[in-house]
Amino acid sequence: MKHLPIGIVGSGKGSNCRAILERIRSADLAAEARLVVSDVLDAPILDIAREFGVANAYLPAGRFRTRLEPAIEEQLVKMLRDAGVELVVLAGFMRVLHEPMLKAFPRRIINIHPSLLPKFPGLESWKQAFIAGETVTGCTVHYVDEEIDHGRILAQKEVRILPNDTAESLHARIQALEHELYPAVIAEFCKTYDEASQQIGGWPDKEVV
Ligand code: GRF
Repeated sequence: MKHLPIGIVGSGKGSNCRAILERIRSADLAAEARLVVSDVLDAPILDIAREFGVANAYLPAGRFRTRLEPAIEEQLVKMLRDAGVELVVLAGFMRVLHEPMLKAFPRRIINIHPSLLPKFPGLESWKQAFIAGETVTGCTVHYVDEEIDHGRILAQKEVRILPNDTAESLHARIQALEHELYPAVIAEFCKTYDEASQQIGGWPDKEVV
């Protein structure tokens, strides 16, 4: 099977990155992690990349808080392209992507979010669901567009909110499910990549899932 070259981009603790790299290491996922990039110098996600022997890089974001400076976003495109990345996997990346990345990787950037989108986009969405008195929340994998936590939904998993839950216990259960859901969605991309590489020598020019 032809392995799908992926790049993982994140700002924080990297538990989804770890789950993906573990699946790759145990040959459960036909992907190859080419590069891990973080906009935070001391983010644990970079340590995880090193632990798994994956090339990694710190990319200083520039002067904006919620996005990359356009020239820096172009730099990110170049880093990922130079590494031969075909699918960009956002894992806890705290900035909104814009034209440079979206144009360079159309239908090839995905994100995971800890709520049942379109409910509760934005920060600490498990807490938002908890405070709103929901009985069910969950996590979502979606294509990335220019809006926050917004593109077409690829897959979701539900988590029941239990009477004795705290926001923290709920968050832990959502994250455990994320670690199942994200590799499963990436596996779909791997399957399509392998089939398409054999048939047409590259990706189909459409959404994969
Ligand atoms: C995850 O909960 C994900 O849904 C959200 O950011 C968090 C990243 O966690 N987008 P981690 O860095 O993968 O542990």
